[in-house]
Amino acid sequence: MLSKLRNRNLSARLLQPADEFWDQRLGISTFGYHPGSGDPGDREWYLHYIPSPYRDIFDALKLAGLRQDDVFTDLGCGLGRAVFAASHMGVKRAEGVELVPKLARQAQDNARTSRLRDRHIVFFERNCLEHDLSATTLAYIFHSFGHQIMAEVLDKARHDRRTIDARRPLRIAYVNPVCNDVLRDSGWFRRVADAPEKRQWLSTAFHYPTTIWESTDI
Ligand SMILES: C[S@@+](CC[C@H](N)C(=O)[O-])C[C@H]1O[C@@H](n2cnc3c(N)ncnc32)[C@H](O)[C@@H]1O
Repeated sequence: MLSKLRNRNLSARLLQPADEFWDQRLGISTFGYHPGSGDPGDREWYLHYIPSPYRDIFDALKLAGLRQDDVFTDLGCGLGRAVFAASHMGVKRAEGVELVPKLARQAQDNARTSRLRDRHIVFFERNCLEHDLSATTLAYIFHSFGHQIMAEVLDKARHDRRTIDARRPLRIAYVNPVCNDVLRDSGWFRRVADAPEKRQWLSTAFHYPTTIWESTDI
């Protein structure tokens, strides 16, 4: 019985009531934890799964100027919270890419049960480095990986965008932006907005600053 309750992340759901409210409203289940792997400095370092607080996602996407014709991609989507939030805000297509099979499958289950199941929402069980970013206009990253993978993801995005001769900039909403220096030094992104870490009353969720970047390749 106890382990069943633990599996359902009961304490997090009680202590983060606003996030529980949004999960219920969207008909999904995104509380959870999955360990990461490696250490800072390793190429393969990737971060554990914890979901972004909904308020941080909504604020970041507003700051990034989310539009109805955006193709939104969460790079390291976990159980898909940001993907559903972006779809709820009205993007044309919302997709999530997740390396850990168990998380990617649970995100797919969420897509089947969600109240947004008639919207264009897709989850991919794969490494971001294998994902085609040519159509993405707004990417979301909640500190999923370290410097090396970030640099490789940016190179991949640049390559993919050239294959279609992209006509719109790529914006990146980057929460807990540990690798801002990689974006700055890439030579094709400019920092367009910043939001400080915000406190949320009645919640134990961790909050982080956000930076918004826009590509200069068009
Ligand atoms: C901090 S969690 C963020 C989850 C989600 N974006 C959110 O905000 O709720 C980072 C996630 O990125 C995933 N991840 C890390 N490296 C990845 C990679 N190279 N490709 C795909 N997913 C990755 C991890 O497995 C983890 O689920």
